[in-house]
Amino acid sequence: TDPAAVPRDLTGRKVVISAGGTREPLDPVRYLGNRSSGRQGFALARVAAHRGAEVTLVAANTAELAVPAGVRLRRVDTAEQLRTEMFDASADADAVVMSAAVADFRPAERVEHKIKKADREPGPVELARNPDVLGELGAARSEGRLRIGVLAGFAAETGDPDTTVLQYGRDKLASKACDLLVVNAVGDGRAFEVEDNAGWVLAASGTQRPVPYGAKSLLASRVWDAVVEQFADQ
Ligand code: CTP
Ligand code: CA
Repeated sequence: TDPAAVPRDLTGRKVVISAGGTREPLDPVRYLGNRSSGRQGFALARVAAHRGAEVTLVAANTAELAVPAGVRLRRVDTAEQLRTEMFDASADADAVVMSAAVADFRPAERVEHKIKKADREPGPVELARNPDVLGELGAARSEGRLRIGVLAGFAAETGDPDTTVLQYGRDKLASKACDLLVVNAVGDGRAFEVEDNAGWVLAASGTQRPVPYGAKSLLASRVWDAVVEQFADQ
């Protein structure tokens, strides 16, 4: 691409992005995890840096990805660590984008030593609820405990017979008190472990922009376009 074509419209802006999938330990060698590669979050970081932002990338487990030049990387494992890093990095951020796949639940107990199969017959693994990091960031901002300019999340939805993908997206945008929500329609091999993504960028103001099927860097550009639009409205 022609570097001259990249707008420098995030110059001087402090942005924070989460990426990858959290891993929730069961014992020292085992965890509950998910298939997130972190590619969308890294694309968001790369594009933001190109557009002039000061970028902090909070990365849970990811595929082996090149850290974009000029991006400050913080590694985490669990949802709780992600929450700590996000709250720390997000203070006075101009924009925060949660693209990490955060495990909704974790094993209720982390066993100190490796579980041996001889110890007992297998039973169910008890789970505990993890913090909703995006929801907590939104609530902290609403209550004036945290200053964040624009808050954005991601959601992958299949929809079901009663509720469409877009309606689930609208509901999630509202419940997490964010300004933007990128909704991916999943199924057809989209979104997970592939280079491409497709969906909509929903804004709290009511707009919905379709994002055509294309590279994750294209979706990243559309997300930053929407963020820049929000800056203009603030
Ligand atoms: N998210 C988060 N913390 C969680 C779960 C999700 O911060 N414990 C964030 C994700 O990073 C994403 C957004 O919330 O930006 C939506 O995630 P999603 O899993 O779709 O939403 P949930 O609230 O977990 O709802 P559900 O999985 O039941 O659809
Ligand atoms: Ca979830």
